[in-house]
Amino acid sequence: MKNGGHLPFSTKIERSSGTPLFRQVYLQLRSSILSRTLRPGAKLPSTRELAEDLSISRSVVVLAYEQLLAEGCVSGKVGSGTYVASELAELAGAPTVTVRKRAMGPARRRPRVSVDVTELSDERPFNLGRTLIDARTIDQWRKLSTRGLQTFDKALLGYCDPRGSQELREAICDYLGSARAVQCDPEQILVTNGTQHAIHIVARLLQQAGDREVWVEDPGYPLTREALLAAGMLVRPVLVDGDGLNVGYGIRRWPMAKAAFITPSHQFPTGVVLSMARRLELLNWAQDNAAWIIEDDYASEFRYGGHPLASLQGLKGGARVIYIGTLNKALFPGLRLGYAVVPHVLLPRAVTARYLLDRQPPLTNQSVVAEFIRGGYLTAHIRRMRQLYREQRDVLVASLRRRLPGFVTVDAPDQGMHLVAYLSGGCADVAAEKAAKQAGIVVRALSRMYVAAAPRQGLLLGFSGYPKQVIAPAVRRLASVFPPP
Ligand SMILES: Cc1ncc(COP(=O)(O)O)c(C=O)c1O
Repeated sequence: MKNGGHLPFSTKIERSSGTPLFRQVYLQLRSSILSRTLRPGAKLPSTRELAEDLSISRSVVVLAYEQLLAEGCVSGKVGSGTYVASELAELAGAPTVTVRKRAMGPARRRPRVSVDVTELSDERPFNLGRTLIDARTIDQWRKLSTRGLQTFDKALLGYCDPRGSQELREAICDYLGSARAVQCDPEQILVTNGTQHAIHIVARLLQQAGDREVWVEDPGYPLTREALLAAGMLVRPVLVDGDGLNVGYGIRRWPMAKAAFITPSHQFPTGVVLSMARRLELLNWAQDNAAWIIEDDYASEFRYGGHPLASLQGLKGGARVIYIGTLNKALFPGLRLGYAVVPHVLLPRAVTARYLLDRQPPLTNQSVVAEFIRGGYLTAHIRRMRQLYREQRDVLVASLRRRLPGFVTVDAPDQGMHLVAYLSGGCADVAAEKAAKQAGIVVRALSRMYVAAAPRQGLLLGFSGYPKQVIAPAVRRLASVFPPP
């Protein structure tokens, strides 16, 4: 044990301890740096001097210094002068040197998502975004998967284009052209794990361009907002009214924004459709401000009254739209497959971002899905599920009206996989959500989806994942948590 004569503090080496010598030196120096006993900018003794002081080999000290260098605790070159890094002046725990101005508003808020795995259970009605598949789809899927496994084509085993396989991109392109009037070619399609993945890719693109300020809908889809916050974006809430995103409000309130994340065909959570006037206003805004519109077209397949509305991307001016869709809703969430249609100018950067995030989509699944789409099974599946989900929606609406009169006001939505039951009589949705959970029912409090706008009280109930016979008893259980009329 010996004191370090060249250091302004005591350094002790315990030869009998199990901790390697270099680590002892490194840990003690690091702790002195972080506690500011060694102040930013201070010169460390040379490795030779310290080695002599501590009676240890110089190579041990060199190792410790190298570790500190790698962590950014010191700067300089080992061997020609090593200094405590001056950037450490603002380290947590250190006395504050400057008070930095922070952007105000929700943009700096820390993400609030914490994953509750019981809430994620598929079994509990009325979880959102769940789907059903029928025997025909299962049978078809099995056949296609078995065929793929039997041939076990070598091309399925390796690396591929980060955008996904050519056959799947072609199939998605054709499907989107006919089902959603999306204007694209297969080159522009990026196969993703789903919407969430696509949002992360887009956030990276915006970040790289320095376009951090973005609009999100208020109320809006929490996972988009939280993913953007987690990616360090400046998230600006824009009011939603009966015509969808209030573009004029966005322009007035957040004029510097460079992107808008929206759900135009079925606003989440309200279900409002973005009016044509607003669509054009939004496209003009994007054009005039060199901004991007990120169209999340989730669940657009499930429209119950008339034909689905065409996509925003397919309109004139749609060149500034990044279109995002998901098969996790059209088919089943466990699939984890979606897509983004990326404008040509963004494509090289988008492909790189996708590659860096997780290289490529899994190939074996892709070939099954490509066959499923090309064979027309996806369209047929959607047609059958649309019928089923409509019936489930109707049972849910009727049950809510019967069991909870005076507590909820509910309209049958024209589209989508969930409905909003607005609460009346002063009921708080968060309290109802909690009580329902204890009764084994999952409902989501509408007020949680708001950022700055005055929250409405309501419950979101997913109807797509639960057969008719499950719905009525579940509503009865839900009703039991409300006070007797
Ligand atoms: C608004 C919205 N977008 C997208 C999705 C689909 O997300 P993913 O494809 O990541 O499953 C959902 C699912 O609930 C959603 O509500």
